[in-house]
Amino acid sequence: MSDLLNVALPKGRLGDTVYELFAKAGFPCPAILDPGRKLIFENPAAGVRYFWVKPSDVAIYVERGAADVGAVGKDILLEYGPEVYELLDLNVGKCRLAVAAKEDFRDNLDRTLRVATKFTRCAARYYSGLSRDIDIIHLNGSIELAPILGLSDVIVDLVETGTTLRENHLVIHDTIVPISARLIANKASFKFKNGAIRRLQENLKPLCGAN
Ligand code: PRP
Repeated sequence: MSDLLNVALPKGRLGDTVYELFAKAGFPCPAILDPGRKLIFENPAAGVRYFWVKPSDVAIYVERGAADVGAVGKDILLEYGPEVYELLDLNVGKCRLAVAAKEDFRDNLDRTLRVATKFTRCAARYYSGLSRDIDIIHLNGSIELAPILGLSDVIVDLVETGTTLRENHLVIHDTIVPISARLIANKASFKFKNGAIRRLQENLKPLCGAN
């Protein structure tokens, strides 16, 4: 896909924020702000082409080289371990991966703990570190319903403002890891488009609190 830098952005609010950062870092593409259903936008003058992809798919596009770089939540990197370079903490999309349960939940160590989550590998790793036997129930969304309906004892899920937990009378029992969006790069692209990728990375650093 040409000499343009191909960038996978997560569709949604986080993607809009990330685009603003990338534009300030020297890769503007004003057409992307047009309302509509188009998924690909390019600005040859700035040497960039953007795609809107589902947030959980960004790492797949980058790993397989359909995109050279992308912005992805650390949760996805921890869960799927894609073969990409993680170049920078963008310090946006901040939330945490946490264990939550009903307010009156008390763990009974004589029983296998039922854990509902989208993040099955992260949950398995966390409980294995505690030597706690669990039964993982993989769900795709609305995870907070599981303890309310008795489908699980606890959930492992992302918490941003805490509103979803509060409104469903759930509380945090433990924070597993803080999460934020990261700049990632395809390993071959990092070699062959090194100039553009390094320029993006270096220009982004001061915009998102160098790290
Ligand atoms: C995410 C997450 C929580 C919620 C947390 O869900 O899974 O449900 O956001 O945000 P809060 O702490 O600000 O309330 P998302 O909106 O992505 O939908 P989902 O239920 O389909 O996972």
